[in-house]
Amino acid sequence: MDVTVSAADVAEWRAVREVRLRALAADPGAFGSTLARELAFDDGVWRERVAAGRTFLARRDGVVVGIASFYAEPGRQDERELVGMWVTPEARRTGVAPALVEAVRRAAAAEGAARLTLFIAEGNEPARRLYERLGFRSTGEVQELQSDPCRGQERYALALS
Ligand SMILES: CC(C)(COP(=O)(O)OP(=O)(O)OC[C@H]1O[C@@H](n2cnc3c(N)ncnc32)[C@H](O)[C@@H]1OP(=O)(O)O)[C@@H](O)C(=O)NCCC(=O)NCCS
Repeated sequence: MDVTVSAADVAEWRAVREVRLRALAADPGAFGSTLARELAFDDGVWRERVAAGRTFLARRDGVVVGIASFYAEPGRQDERELVGMWVTPEARRTGVAPALVEAVRRAAAAEGAARLTLFIAEGNEPARRLYERLGFRSTGEVQELQSDPCRGQERYALALS
């Protein structure tokens, strides 16, 4: 069964919360945020996040199998940053991740952005391979990972045209 990807509606905030908390619990080393931080969010924070219209859910047979979001980092108006990409372990390597990236790429381009960027944590080989296969290239910029300052994360970018 094909995967479907759509922007989450504000009414779906509980589904977004569920998959996001599952992602932070399962793969803490992949993200800048932490499970403890987001468990403390009240319902309004989740509603606000989803209301921005920039969170995408992937479903197969009606079951959520992945999530990705994007946002505009202040001061970098010509870019959009893809964040929070996660595919459930059982759905990996089945085309869910590229479908999510494509939905974000289209939405970022529709907002007039020139580039789609993202950070990959040091040692995250599946993510690096995925994004390089889809045309993202390292910008050479390395920052510390907020959730684990001992590790670095590298910015990658894809030109949108
Ligand atoms: C990163 C992630 C979204 C990729 O999803 P996916 O469905 O596995 O994506 P794809 O199958 O399209 O691509 C994954 C690539 O990693 C490779 N891969 C998978 N497991 C691997 C491993 N343990 N070591 C090295 N490479 C691995 C796959 O072979 C594939 O590369 P290839 O096309 O060159 O063969 C998924 O692994 C995930 O949710 N990880 C945890 C969260 C995360 O890291 N998010 C990204 C933050 S930047």
